[in-house]
Amino acid sequence: MSKNKLECYQNGIRFENPFLVGSGPPSTNAKVIARSFDAGWAGSVIKTLSLDSTKVRNIAPRYGHHKFNGKCIGFTNNELITDRPLEIWLDEMKELKKVYPDKILIASIMEEPTRENWLKLTDLVCKAGADMIELNLSCPHGMPERKMGQAMGQCPDVIKDVTSWVKEASTVPVWAKMTPNITDITVPGKAALDAGADGLTAINTILSVSGINMKNFQSIPNVKGVSAFGGYSYTAVKPIALRMIGELAMAFPKTEISGVGGIVDGQSSAEHLCMGAGTLQVCTAIMLDGFKMIDGLKDELTTILDDHGMDNVHELKGKSLEYFGTMAEMADRLEASKQKTKAHTDSFSGDNIVDVSNELTNDE
Ligand SMILES: Cc1cc2nc3c(=O)[nH]c(=O)nc-3n(C[C@H](O)[C@H](O)[C@H](O)COP(=O)(O)O)c2cc1C
Repeated sequence: MSKNKLECYQNGIRFENPFLVGSGPPSTNAKVIARSFDAGWAGSVIKTLSLDSTKVRNIAPRYGHHKFNGKCIGFTNNELITDRPLEIWLDEMKELKKVYPDKILIASIMEEPTRENWLKLTDLVCKAGADMIELNLSCPHGMPERKMGQAMGQCPDVIKDVTSWVKEASTVPVWAKMTPNITDITVPGKAALDAGADGLTAINTILSVSGINMKNFQSIPNVKGVSAFGGYSYTAVKPIALRMIGELAMAFPKTEISGVGGIVDGQSSAEHLCMGAGTLQVCTAIMLDGFKMIDGLKDELTTILDDHGMDNVHELKGKSLEYFGTMAEMADRLEASKQKTKAHTDSFSGDNIVDVSNELTNDE
């Protein structure tokens, strides 16, 4: 049998391939998770849990497509964390681990910022068989009135408290999931790592408005005419995810990162790895294409490894980071090359804006 080039490890945990289902609708109950495991996903970050699901008030409709030329390029959601009772989830986790012992079950958890709540939730998910914990410090719409989600992830002091409480109670590795709705992602990243996080997940969704319906000026999606800024995901967010993962990987080179945001195919998977991720999470693309997309992801990533004569997916990790420098370094290189260019802004005469823009573009 040929060697599985996609097998990888993070924080001592073995993943049969780097592809995990990201927390969201594709991990929203045990039936769905079992389907993803049967399809070939290496693990699943379960839909975020809290102690009391009765406080979670979900709305419908809650998804909106951002379309360009008729194709969905971005996706907005206003979905909260799970509204299913914790006791049911804990039973389902135990059952999933019994039936799928080799698949990695990651418990995403979120609570109000009190030590007692976080200790309790951490203890319960560890006892239910979670292989890892992911701290949801990043959900953009849930639930600021309870100081949860992104409201925590934007406050380094709260991140430190929460991470240290969870580390105190956890028997498994802990990843902290970062919000992109912040100026410098290394600040919350450092707070989580200083408090003992074993790794970082980046990114959660980006605050957004997917579009406006020009018949009534209402935003998409809305409930009975009212909307709230939602979380943006899918292929359009990939460039932002890559930048933020790169910032974390450069600032904390020894830290394990799980990359998420706009992964849709082998190319975008490889790009996340090249920027420093070690595992990859997919959410929206599964909602649009189904779990079977894993076949294409695995084949395409393996082909990229084969093309470079690489034996294991680890070899792609952080491969592009050495090529980043400063704008000044780029200018120095160009000057040293003595290449004739239209770099000066006077090259734009007005009528030639499209042509000069093309000449200044590099897609390769
Ligand atoms: C409908 C929906 C619900 C989500 N729910 C959660 C959640 O409960 N917890 C969480 O940490 N992230 C949640 N996310 C964020 C995703 O896990 C992921 O970070 C984000 O969507 C970017 O990845 P993608 O482009 O592959 O979707 C949700 C995303 C979507 C689209």
